[in-house]
Amino acid sequence: MYCLTVSSLNEIPWDDVREHAIRASVTSYSPYSKVRVGAAGYTTDGRIVEGANVENASYGLTLCAECSLVSDLIRQGGGRLAAVAIVAGDHQPIAPCGRCRQLLFEHGGNGLLIDAGEGREPKHLHELLPDAFGPEDLGIRKNQ
Ligand code: THU
Repeated sequence: MYCLTVSSLNEIPWDDVREHAIRASVTSYSPYSKVRVGAAGYTTDGRIVEGANVENASYGLTLCAECSLVSDLIRQGGGRLAAVAIVAGDHQPIAPCGRCRQLLFEHGGNGLLIDAGEGREPKHLHELLPDAFGPEDLGIRKNQ
């Protein structure tokens, strides 16, 4: 497990997070698309979690890098994501797919910061997934 000590979430170490995403992309299993995706997340308690895409001969079963990142988060004991960087093999940011926006919402919520690349303002997840359905919707929608 990789752990950084920072005192405030204003200090998201974007360079480190991006570097981890780039390193994770090298571990991608993507023989079909040949798009190596790496993701790294920074937790509210200062940990970095990582993931890479894992493809399958049955194409639709492919796991995105963000799926793998969420697995890493849970296996580390859970926590909340504060920021995420997702890159392709060219080291440039790649937009999270729709399913992954929902997966990230579960663990980071509306305020989760999504890297837009060096020198660009990160986006909040609520910009990418407005009016999201989340865990709190379940309790109040049950009929019995
Ligand atoms: N991919 C991700 O890993 N994350 C995304 O958010 C977008 C797409 C992967 C899935 C597949 O292995 C490859 O990129 C091409 O679609």
